[in-house]
Amino acid sequence: MPETIMKAEQLSPQQSEYMKLTAEIMEIRKRGERPLAFIRTYGCQQNVADSEKIKGMLAASGFDFVESPEDADFILFNTCAVREHAEDRVFGNVGALKNLKRKHPQILIALCGCMMEQEHIANRIYNSFPFVGLVFGTHSLHHFPELLYRSLTDGRRVFERGNDDKKIYEGIPVRRDGSFKGWLPIMYGCNNFCTYCIVPYVRGRERSREKDVILREARQMIEGGFRDITLLGQNVNSYGKTLAEPVSFAQLIREIDAIDGDYWLRFMTSHPKDCSRELIDAIAESRHISKHLHLPFQSGSDRILKAMNRHYDRKKYLETVAYAKERIGNVSLTSDIIVGFPGETYEDFKQTLSLIREVEFTSLFTFIYSPRKGTPAAAYDDPVSAEEKGKWFQELLDVQEEIAAARCASMVGQTERVLIESVKEKTGELNARTSGNIIVELEGDKSLIGTFQNAKITRARNWILKGELT
Ligand code: SAH
Ligand code: SF4
Ligand code: F3S
Repeated sequence: MPETIMKAEQLSPQQSEYMKLTAEIMEIRKRGERPLAFIRTYGCQQNVADSEKIKGMLAASGFDFVESPEDADFILFNTCAVREHAEDRVFGNVGALKNLKRKHPQILIALCGCMMEQEHIANRIYNSFPFVGLVFGTHSLHHFPELLYRSLTDGRRVFERGNDDKKIYEGIPVRRDGSFKGWLPIMYGCNNFCTYCIVPYVRGRERSREKDVILREARQMIEGGFRDITLLGQNVNSYGKTLAEPVSFAQLIREIDAIDGDYWLRFMTSHPKDCSRELIDAIAESRHISKHLHLPFQSGSDRILKAMNRHYDRKKYLETVAYAKERIGNVSLTSDIIVGFPGETYEDFKQTLSLIREVEFTSLFTFIYSPRKGTPAAAYDDPVSAEEKGKWFQELLDVQEEIAAARCASMVGQTERVLIESVKEKTGELNARTSGNIIVELEGDKSLIGTFQNAKITRARNWILKGELT
């Protein structure tokens, strides 16, 4: 595929005008009270980061935010298309809004995100959910202010998707959900076309943000007190390839790492096909990059990896893992796995089991294959029954539970630096996380939330650690 050089554009001044206009009309409609928005986000961190931009634009349009759709003037679901289950949940939850709209006809119900970039889904919403007033896809984020204004004033439903999947827009206001843990998108889209995956179709072509823009944002976050920053992209290892002056991902993280401050830097997702030694060296030599590598292998069988179009084999994957273990002391490895890809046999699946035993992952995200309309794999023969796949899936969970438990048990007695993240409502205990992304529960005061502490690991319960502050 030829590489395209894409220059970032700024959010147009026209969009700022629309935000002002929306604030004015809503002030009149609400008789001086602030209008209220409810946003629910499905799917991955990319969507969470997009929702933070949508919230930024809504805040600039005069909105406050509420926790319940019943209290809102504007309800938005930011959707995910990665598996059928994700889509079903959205349809179920949108259906449940019908009565609310009947009771309060003035509310505006909107849907956006990955699902809405699929024509058949947008059509289904149009035909079956007439109470949904606004629909827009991932490529329309930069003119959300205009779409919102039009939906509020035109008296017509606004549906927009599918234009312009090659550009990056900077200057969109962001309202971050957290004050010490945050997301920093470094690139958008994906060019890999794994045969099972819908993401390249709904997120468009791979494009990277300029290095200086990312460094500026990282600096702002660090100075603003962020302690745990995750760089986001579907395949961060190919960061920078489309820039006018190409930069490698390893180079980018070395430059961020050089910013002084007390913080952890994470990233996701790393594609094993181009997880370079240079990157592993950068992690090993860094001051701030967490000793954690999320490296989805999807399947342990070379035959299936080929059918998935993943461009690496088991041997290459294990070599990368071996190098990471050698260079990064006590590295924490996590992965994504698909069970029941079309044509997968129990023999193939056993290769996945043997790979997880060999690597000893800290935790896994495991999925049963879900056919996605328009992807190549959806047309492949898939003779194994759902029941059989379910059994394999359970077997995988059992094996992983054993491995994670053994890994956690081996940490008892160690002292770990942890970031205190939240308080558990039920028990009053604090939830903390290690640099390797393992959860530690401990006693302590909630004023410690958002700070780094040292914790001695006292017990392991399956894959959760118990600790005490030292
Ligand atoms: N860019 C990331 C993954 C993004 S999607 C990567 O390449 O690793 C997150 C995970 O969802 C994938 O790693 C895969 O395990 C899973 N997934 C994607 N499409 C799927 C499908 N059709 N059925 C089941 N799982 C799927
Ligand atoms: Fe999907 Fe593959 Fe791209 Fe990941 S790398 S988003 S799995 S196509
Ligand atoms: Fe889902 Fe879109 Fe992320 S399909 S997994 S929200 S990129």
